[in-house]
Formats: sequence, structure tokens, C-alpha cells
Amino acid sequence: MTDANTYTVSDRFEDRGDIARIRFTPKSGSKLPPFTAGAHIDIYLPDVDMWRQYSLCSDPAETGFYEIGVLKDPNSRGGSTAVHRLAVEGAEFKLDGPRNHFPLDETAARTVLLGGGIGVTPMIAMAKRLHALGKDFTLHYCTRSDAVTAFKDALDSSEFADKVVYHFDDQDADQRLDLARDLPAPASDTHLYVCGPQGFMDWVISTAESDGHARANVHREYFSADVDLSGDSFEVECAESGITVTIGPKDTIAKALAKEGIKIEVKCEEGVCGTCITDVLSGEIDHRDQFLTEEEREDGDQLCACCSRGKGKLVLDI
Ligand code: FES
Repeated sequence: MTDANTYTVSDRFEDRGDIARIRFTPKSGSKLPPFTAGAHIDIYLPDVDMWRQYSLCSDPAETGFYEIGVLKDPNSRGGSTAVHRLAVEGAEFKLDGPRNHFPLDETAARTVLLGGGIGVTPMIAMAKRLHALGKDFTLHYCTRSDAVTAFKDALDSSEFADKVVYHFDDQDADQRLDLARDLPAPASDTHLYVCGPQGFMDWVISTAESDGHARANVHREYFSADVDLSGDSFEVECAESGITVTIGPKDTIAKALAKEGIKIEVKCEEGVCGTCITDVLSGEIDHRDQFLTEEEREDGDQLCACCSRGKGKLVLDI
């Protein structure tokens, strides 16, 4: 590991709901690269040979450390349990980033943040930024119960505590998130941000869009996704090398090309981080990711090689 991207775990707090809040500082003592609200970092986990993405929940004005919140999820592919096991104070990690695919529109007149479970993490950085800017905003934070609501003590003692509304599944119906009541009226300068489990996101996004919120004003960040790799076989030709491979059902472009010695960098392998974006010269793409926007999909000139498929034959610019 080079010192430039090596970070040390400087603090760790066990919060409610099996969530560890972990702070990283640069090992070299160099300046922390700045970030904007909504950004994430990539963390390499050598034990399981995985890169995992975690949204930053620290204040974008913070210059000493990055903070993330990690839910220990035994049903995940092993990333979160590895972080919980390995990220003890003093441990060193290779980090990449920060990068921001979920930027905050700081010009909005009204902003509504909707976080489901651990999906609240980027919303916390956004709330801090919006408060610093003196903006009109509300943070709706949905969890199963008060007892598993990480960050609650910090939010309750923050200067914007009056802007945080909790919704607990185990409480009365009128206390739970009610989109008919809690979403603002659509307006060109009103922006919504949503992050959480897929079902929560699908519900919020489809309701907001059917209520008349412009798609471009409903910002979303998927932290994991169920990837559907099913479908017919198709061919991929690599224009530079001239190699052509057949991608079978359940296989991926990235894995099939790796066997031929053509490496496409992958990180999340779930179509959410954008690391594996590859240019497409021709062919019909069957997008399976959550990363590209509708407009980018319509352009038809790039795909996520970790999960997306093709119909017939695709020619890639690699
Ligand atoms: S590796 Fe993350 S989108 Fe493909």
C-alpha cells in the first residue's frame, strides 16, 4: 500500500442497530482530500478481496477525517461483516475516492431527504451541508424501531434536530412515513433525495414521479441491488483486440473477458458504483444496472460490464 491512499481507523463507535461508525484519517498525515455531500469512498477488504462503497456521513466541512456507518449484515456478500471484523482502531485500509454520483443541488429552494435504514448516511452529510447553507430542508429517517436507529443521538443533539422526522415501523400508522402527507408539492426548485433498501426506493421514487415530481429532481443512490443476470447468450466483440466472446446466461461481460485476459475493473459487481462503465460502439444494450441515468441509457454508448447484457452482438471500445 502506498501512503497516499492508506488510511488509519482513528475512531470507531458502536451505534444502535448493529451499525459501526468508523472514522478514517490519512496515514501519511497529509491533507484529507475534500468531498461534497453525497460522496462515497471505496474501501478495499483484502481478506475477502473485495472493494466496497460506503457513503460519507461526516460534515463536508470536516478536514480531519472521513466517517462512514456500516450495518453488519450477515446476509450480504461478506463486505459488511469484514468491515466490522477488520476496522478496529489503528487498522490500515486502502481507500479510493471520494467520488460523488449523488450530488446535492445546492440551489434548490426546498429539499427533502428520505433515508431508509443505513441509507440515511449520505443524507446526514447533506443535512449538515444544507444547514450550513441556511437552506430549507427536512430529513425523513425511516427505521424498524427507535432501538435500531443509529445516529439518533447525534441527530437529536445537532443544530438541525428540528428538521429531522423519524418514522418507526413499530409505531402507529400515523407516525410512519406517509408519502401523501410527507412529500412536498412538486416544483421546479424542489428536490428529493432517496437512499435505502430497494423496495423503499422503488416506493418513494414511483410515488414521487406519479405525483408530478420531475425525474431529474428525484435523486437516488442505490447502495446495493439485486442483479438479474438471466437472459439469452449474446456475443461481445472487443474492437481493439479483435477478440470475440460469447456471454452465456448468468455470466457477465467483465468475467467472460477476464478469462480472455481483457481486464475491466469492477468493484461493487451489482451495477451501482459505475466503476466498470465501458464504451459501446454498436449493438443493442440490455441495461441491468442502477447507475446510468435514463438519458445515458438512451444514448446507448456505454454499459456496466459487471451486470448489463446485450441482444445479438455488442462491439465494445476496448
Ligand atoms: S462494478 Fe460497480 S457498477 Fe459495475
